[in-house]
Amino acid sequence: MKVIEPEVIHHIADSVIEGEKVEKYSKKYHEVAYLYEQPREDDPIVYEVYSYSKGENILGNLQWGLTVLKPVYSFDECNMTKGHFHENKDCAEIYFGIAGEGLLLLMDEDGETWAEKVYEGSLHHIAGTIAHRLVNIGETDLKVGACWPTAAGHDYQAIERKEFGYRVFKRNGEVKFIKR
Ligand SMILES: [Fe+2]
Repeated sequence: MKVIEPEVIHHIADSVIEGEKVEKYSKKYHEVAYLYEQPREDDPIVYEVYSYSKGENILGNLQWGLTVLKPVYSFDECNMTKGHFHENKDCAEIYFGIAGEGLLLLMDEDGETWAEKVYEGSLHHIAGTIAHRLVNIGETDLKVGACWPTAAGHDYQAIERKEFGYRVFKRNGEVKFIKR
């Protein structure tokens, strides 16, 4: 029997996914500054995303990913991803916490918003109709893995039209939610 090396390695401790078919990009602050109530003046890297998939973009295939969300605060407002609904509402997703301290903001189609705590080992099932956004409420990188159907698609515009119900701040070490 032939035994071969895997084509992709997810280095959990280093937060890196390595392999020929792995795509990586990083987001700079100016690209997401519009998300914040009071934007910063500088332009740090706010998050890095790795993703890996194989085969065609058809229902049934899977995508594997890693998000590294930096502990960058906009004055007191916590760093967050843009957040999205899936274009294909039949496609659920699994997130799992690898390191750091965060929140997974969730919102249904009526705008009802709630959150799950994210930390090492936490596992999150996100139904296909629920919008999702990661928020770093800690002082270290928030590292979150994900697995979702390749055909899910990302609807970011829906969030720009109707934002999550709460902003998340950290003031004097305490997390605060401010209703929009
Ligand atoms: Fe998603």
